[in-house]
Amino acid sequence: MLTRKNITNYLSNITRIITKSSTAEKVAENWHEDFIMSLAKIMRPNLYLELGLYQCELFNKIIPYADVLIGIDINSDAGKFMLKTGKARFVNTSTDEYAKKLLRKPLSIDMLFIDANHSAKAVEKDFYNYFPFVSPHGLIIFHDTHPKNYDYINPGYCGDCYKTIRKLSYQTKDYEMVTIPVHPGLTICRKRKSQLKWQEKSKFK
Ligand SMILES: C[S@@+](CC[C@H](N)C(=O)[O-])C[C@H]1O[C@@H](n2cnc3c(N)ncnc32)[C@H](O)[C@@H]1O
Repeated sequence: MLTRKNITNYLSNITRIITKSSTAEKVAENWHEDFIMSLAKIMRPNLYLELGLYQCELFNKIIPYADVLIGIDINSDAGKFMLKTGKARFVNTSTDEYAKKLLRKPLSIDMLFIDANHSAKAVEKDFYNYFPFVSPHGLIIFHDTHPKNYDYINPGYCGDCYKTIRKLSYQTKDYEMVTIPVHPGLTICRKRKSQLKWQEKSKFK
Protein backbone atom coordinates (compact mmCIF):
# COMPACT_ATOMS: atom_id res chain seq x y z
CA MET A 1 0.00 0.00 0.00
CA LEU A 2 1.26 3.45 -0.86
CA THR A 3 1.46 5.26 2.47
CA ARG A 4 3.37 8.39 3.38
CA LYS A 5 5.72 6.25 5.54
CA ASN A 6 6.46 3.87 2.64
CA ILE A 7 7.25 6.74 0.30
CA THR A 8 9.53 8.37 2.87
CA ASN A 9 11.40 5.08 3.43
CA TYR A 10 11.72 4.52 -0.30
CA LEU A 11 13.13 8.02 -0.89
CA SER A 12 15.61 7.75 1.96
CA ASN A 13 16.85 4.37 0.62
CA ILE A 14 17.36 5.82 -2.85
CA THR A 15 19.22 8.81 -1.38
CA ARG A 16 21.46 6.46 0.62
CA ILE A 17 22.34 4.36 -2.46
CA ILE A 18 23.06 7.43 -4.61
CA THR A 19 25.16 9.10 -1.92
CA LYS A 20 27.11 5.89 -1.31
CA SER A 21 27.98 5.28 -4.96
CA SER A 22 28.87 8.88 -5.70
CA THR A 23 31.10 9.00 -2.60
CA ALA A 24 32.93 5.88 -3.77
CA GLU A 25 33.51 7.37 -7.22
CA LYS A 26 35.18 10.41 -5.74
CA VAL A 27 38.25 8.54 -4.45
CA ALA A 28 41.11 9.47 -6.77
CA GLU A 29 44.03 7.05 -7.16
CA ASN A 30 46.44 9.66 -5.82
CA TRP A 31 44.55 10.00 -2.52
CA HIS A 32 47.83 9.18 -0.74
CA GLU A 33 49.07 12.72 -1.44
CA ASP A 34 46.50 14.52 0.69
CA PHE A 35 46.60 11.75 3.27
CA ILE A 36 50.38 12.00 3.78
CA MET A 37 50.27 15.78 3.59
CA SER A 38 47.75 15.75 6.45
CA LEU A 39 49.99 13.44 8.45
CA ALA A 40 52.92 15.81 7.91
CA LYS A 41 50.75 18.76 8.89
CA ILE A 42 50.04 17.02 12.20
CA MET A 43 53.46 15.43 12.81
CA ARG A 44 55.59 18.39 11.64
CA PRO A 45 58.67 16.23 10.91
CA ASN A 46 62.13 17.73 11.36
CA LEU A 47 63.30 15.56 8.48
CA TYR A 48 61.10 14.15 5.71
CA LEU A 49 62.74 11.68 3.31
CA GLU A 50 61.00 10.40 0.18
CA LEU A 51 62.36 7.44 -1.77
CA GLY A 52 61.10 7.75 -5.36
CA LEU A 53 59.77 11.15 -6.38
CA TYR A 54 58.56 10.84 -9.97
CA GLN A 55 57.31 14.42 -10.52
CA CYS A 56 57.45 15.55 -6.86
CA GLU A 57 53.66 15.84 -6.69
CA LEU A 58 53.59 14.69 -3.08
CA PHE A 59 57.02 15.94 -2.10
CA ASN A 60 56.17 19.56 -2.93
CA LYS A 61 53.00 19.35 -0.82
CA ILE A 62 55.06 18.39 2.24
CA ILE A 63 57.42 21.39 1.98
CA PRO A 64 55.34 23.72 4.21
CA TYR A 65 55.21 21.13 7.01
CA ALA A 66 58.77 19.83 7.39
CA ASP A 67 61.95 21.62 8.48
CA VAL A 68 64.21 19.72 6.09
CA LEU A 69 63.23 17.54 3.12
CA ILE A 70 65.34 15.14 1.06
CA GLY A 71 64.07 13.44 -2.08
CA ILE A 72 65.85 10.50 -3.74
CA ASP A 73 65.29 9.37 -7.32
CA ILE A 74 67.35 7.35 -9.75
CA ASN A 75 65.93 9.45 -12.59
CA SER A 76 67.55 12.89 -12.81
CA ASP A 77 64.36 14.38 -14.34
CA ALA A 78 62.60 14.08 -10.97
CA GLY A 79 64.70 16.93 -9.60
CA LYS A 80 63.37 19.35 -12.22
CA PHE A 81 59.94 19.18 -10.60
CA MET A 82 61.10 19.97 -7.08
CA LEU A 83 60.09 23.43 -5.90
CA LYS A 84 63.06 25.66 -5.23
CA THR A 85 63.45 26.18 -1.51
CA GLY A 86 66.41 26.18 0.83
CA LYS A 87 65.00 23.37 2.93
CA ALA A 88 64.46 20.79 0.15
CA ARG A 89 67.23 18.79 -1.53
CA PHE A 90 67.17 16.40 -4.47
CA VAL A 91 69.63 13.50 -4.53
CA ASN A 92 69.96 11.78 -7.90
CA THR A 93 70.88 8.26 -6.90
CA SER A 94 69.43 4.84 -6.13
CA THR A 95 67.90 4.13 -2.75
CA ASP A 96 70.63 1.52 -2.16
CA GLU A 97 73.41 4.04 -2.79
CA TYR A 98 71.85 6.68 -0.56
CA ALA A 99 71.50 4.14 2.26
CA LYS A 100 75.27 3.54 2.02
CA LYS A 101 75.86 7.28 2.41
CA LEU A 102 73.75 7.25 5.57
CA LEU A 103 76.03 4.64 7.11
CA ARG A 104 78.90 7.13 6.82
CA LYS A 105 76.82 10.18 7.75
CA PRO A 106 73.69 9.16 9.68
CA LEU A 107 70.48 11.20 9.76
CA SER A 108 67.46 11.03 12.03
CA ILE A 109 64.40 10.66 9.80
CA ASP A 110 60.99 11.52 11.28
CA MET A 111 58.93 10.63 8.25
CA LEU A 112 60.05 8.24 5.54
CA PHE A 113 58.03 7.50 2.41
CA ILE A 114 59.07 4.32 0.59
CA ASP A 115 57.82 4.65 -2.98
CA ALA A 116 60.68 3.75 -5.36
CA ASN A 117 60.99 0.21 -6.76
CA HIS A 118 57.76 -1.62 -5.80
CA SER A 119 58.97 -5.20 -5.96
CA ALA A 120 58.65 -7.10 -2.70
CA LYS A 121 62.42 -7.62 -2.56
CA ALA A 122 63.31 -3.95 -3.16
CA VAL A 123 60.77 -2.64 -0.64
CA GLU A 124 62.00 -5.04 2.02
CA LYS A 125 65.56 -3.91 1.34
CA ASP A 126 64.60 -0.23 1.55
CA PHE A 127 62.80 -0.90 4.83
CA TYR A 128 65.76 -2.63 6.49
CA ASN A 129 68.33 -0.21 5.04
CA TYR A 130 66.52 2.88 6.32
CA PHE A 131 64.90 1.59 9.50
CA PRO A 132 68.00 2.23 11.67
CA PHE A 133 67.88 5.92 10.67
CA VAL A 134 64.23 6.47 11.55
CA SER A 135 63.79 8.30 14.85
CA PRO A 136 61.86 6.68 17.70
CA HIS A 137 58.14 7.05 16.91
CA GLY A 138 59.00 8.19 13.41
CA LEU A 139 56.66 7.05 10.63
CA ILE A 140 57.54 4.89 7.66
CA ILE A 141 54.91 4.98 4.93
CA PHE A 142 54.67 2.49 2.08
CA HIS A 143 52.70 3.06 -1.13
CA ASP A 144 50.82 0.59 -3.38
CA THR A 145 50.37 -2.01 -0.67
CA HIS A 146 46.73 -2.87 -1.38
CA PRO A 147 46.15 -3.27 -5.15
CA LYS A 148 42.50 -3.82 -6.02
CA ASN A 149 43.00 -6.95 -8.12
CA TYR A 150 45.61 -9.25 -9.71
CA ASP A 151 46.08 -6.97 -12.74
CA TYR A 152 47.55 -4.30 -10.49
CA ILE A 153 50.20 -6.59 -8.98
CA ASN A 154 52.33 -6.26 -12.11
CA PRO A 155 55.67 -4.40 -11.87
CA GLY A 156 54.37 -1.48 -13.93
CA TYR A 157 51.81 -0.64 -11.29
CA CYS A 158 51.74 -1.64 -7.61
CA GLY A 159 54.20 -4.52 -7.95
CA ASP A 160 54.09 -7.25 -5.35
CA CYS A 161 55.25 -5.14 -2.41
CA TYR A 162 52.10 -6.11 -0.50
CA LYS A 163 53.94 -9.38 0.21
CA THR A 164 56.60 -7.45 2.10
CA ILE A 165 53.97 -5.79 4.26
CA ARG A 166 52.41 -9.19 4.97
CA LYS A 167 55.81 -10.44 6.08
CA LEU A 168 56.84 -7.37 8.09
CA SER A 169 53.51 -6.96 9.84
CA TYR A 170 53.93 -10.26 11.71
CA GLN A 171 56.87 -8.76 13.58
CA THR A 172 55.75 -6.20 16.11
CA LYS A 173 58.59 -5.89 18.61
CA ASP A 174 60.17 -2.75 17.10
CA TYR A 175 57.24 -1.27 15.19
CA GLU A 176 53.51 -1.42 14.58
CA MET A 177 51.78 -1.33 11.20
CA VAL A 178 48.42 -0.68 9.63
CA THR A 179 47.32 -0.79 5.98
CA ILE A 180 44.57 1.43 4.59
CA PRO A 181 42.72 -1.10 2.39
CA VAL A 182 41.80 1.31 -0.38
CA HIS A 183 43.39 0.91 -3.81
CA PRO A 184 46.31 1.31 -4.41
CA GLY A 185 46.86 1.07 -0.67
CA LEU A 186 49.00 2.78 1.90
CA THR A 187 50.72 1.25 4.92
CA ILE A 188 51.81 3.23 7.93
CA CYS A 189 54.46 1.90 10.25
CA ARG A 190 55.42 3.51 13.54
CA LYS A 191 58.84 2.68 14.91
CA ARG A 192 58.49 2.19 18.62
CA LYS A 193 59.73 0.21 21.55
CA SER A 194 57.33 1.59 24.12
CA GLN A 195 53.87 3.00 23.52
CA LEU A 196 54.74 6.55 24.61
CA LYS A 197 57.12 8.67 22.59
CA TRP A 198 58.43 10.62 25.56
CA GLN A 199 59.64 7.39 27.16
CA GLU A 200 62.11 6.84 24.34
CA LYS A 201 65.18 8.83 23.35
CA SER A 202 66.73 9.20 19.91
CA LYS A 203 70.31 7.95 19.63
CA PHE A 204 70.98 10.71 17.07
CA LYS A 205 69.90 13.76 19.09
C1 LIG B 1 55.80 5.71 -8.07
S1 LIG B 1 57.02 6.85 -8.51
C2 LIG B 1 57.08 7.91 -7.09
C3 LIG B 1 55.86 8.76 -6.89
C4 LIG B 1 55.95 9.80 -5.79
N1 LIG B 1 56.45 9.24 -4.55
C5 LIG B 1 54.60 10.43 -5.50
O1 LIG B 1 53.93 10.01 -4.55
O2 LIG B 1 54.22 11.36 -6.22
C6 LIG B 1 58.48 5.91 -8.37
C7 LIG B 1 59.79 6.66 -8.61
O3 LIG B 1 60.85 5.87 -8.07
C8 LIG B 1 61.98 5.98 -8.88
N2 LIG B 1 62.80 4.77 -8.62
C9 LIG B 1 62.55 3.49 -9.00
N3 LIG B 1 63.49 2.66 -8.53
C10 LIG B 1 64.37 3.43 -7.82
C11 LIG B 1 65.54 3.15 -7.07
N4 LIG B 1 66.00 1.90 -6.94
N5 LIG B 1 66.17 4.17 -6.46
C12 LIG B 1 65.69 5.45 -6.57
N6 LIG B 1 64.58 5.77 -7.26
C13 LIG B 1 63.93 4.78 -7.87
C14 LIG B 1 61.46 6.11 -10.28
O4 LIG B 1 62.40 6.78 -11.10
C15 LIG B 1 60.16 6.89 -10.08
O5 LIG B 1 60.35 8.28 -10.30
